[in-house]
Amino acid sequence: MALNILAFETSCDETSAAILLDNEVLSNIISLQTFHNEYGGIVPELASRAQLEVIDKVTRKAIADSRIESGEIGLVAAASGPGLIGSLLTGLNYAKAFAIGRNIRFIAVNHIEAHMYSCFIGKRTIDFPFLSLVVSGGHTILSLVAGYFEHRILGQTQDDAAGEAFDKAAKMLGLGYPGGPLIDCAAKNGDENFHEFPVSNVRENSYDFSFSGIKTSLLYYLRKKYKADKIPLMPEEMKNKNIPINDICASFQKAVVESLTEKAIAAAEELNVRRIAVSGGVSANSKLRTEFLKLTGDEYEVYFPSLEYTTDNAAMIGYCAYLKNKYGKMTDEELERQISEPAFARLEPPHAN
Ligand code: KG4
Ligand code: ZN
Repeated sequence: MALNILAFETSCDETSAAILLDNEVLSNIISLQTFHNEYGGIVPELASRAQLEVIDKVTRKAIADSRIESGEIGLVAAASGPGLIGSLLTGLNYAKAFAIGRNIRFIAVNHIEAHMYSCFIGKRTIDFPFLSLVVSGGHTILSLVAGYFEHRILGQTQDDAAGEAFDKAAKMLGLGYPGGPLIDCAAKNGDENFHEFPVSNVRENSYDFSFSGIKTSLLYYLRKKYKADKIPLMPEEMKNKNIPINDICASFQKAVVESLTEKAIAAAEELNVRRIAVSGGVSANSKLRTEFLKLTGDEYEVYFPSLEYTTDNAAMIGYCAYLKNKYGKMTDEELERQISEPAFARLEPPHAN
């Protein structure tokens, strides 16, 4: 029988609720917080307080937009980590209360796993194996997915995540937050061969990533080439010194994207996997999409989430819960544990199998 799923995502500064009918998304509401800009970064305590204020409204809107009645919900799911603990607890506790109060099944969903499967939202079944590259503000993880909820991490970032590199670079360039979309946009009018930014290779494991070096190289470049003594750059300085912001953004983006595509392709070749699924906030990047989609054809099948499911959203949590409920082989004890266990016990990244 088809199941209506109510799902929550509150792992960072977003408050999102979605309704799915099995694999199909009926509504997906995302409330974003903009006030963190004043502080130059996310303030966790303020994020969770604001989430507490809007979660009820967001949930009601998700239910209303889906055109189902709350009494028709048969499964509740929430992101249980990794993420900001106060924010996670807000969504989790709201979701658990909803489930317990109505005696509905509850499923905790790993945020990274939800990104992994977000490429397939809408599908009833998925073809395996596939190579998964999750690129977000907090994570850069390359893994081999052999079957439903069976994956082995091949490599991950040793320092900054790819999205974090975009965010830090945009901050230095005085562009604002989140940096990824701003750099992506500026890069469209720039020359990506203007300057070569180096991306360091991690020696111990060739599938690991490192993005902290490129941020430093951008800083030194601005200081040396343009005598920029104040970082973040101010608009007047950029204008007075004729700093080619679009070219710098395009060159920076090229370096990050090349590092991501090179490692993913190397892994696909070595493991002889022909399906590549790229997800997470950075998978919205136009250059990243273009480069990966060039591989599509006889040799590779490349999957991306539709743009609305790239950055954090509850629809991907609902879809992952649908898959877990259908293919996850969860025992009654496991389901009981999910509802009784506090969030912080389940912050582990996807386990290696
Ligand atoms: O998946 P997500 O919403 O949050 C985490 O789980 O971390 O990803 C947010 C990240 C931010 O770092 C943001 O700058 C980046 O995704 N991002 C992009 C683009 N859109 C969002 N990065 C590059 N290009 C984009 N178009
Ligand atoms: Zn995310």
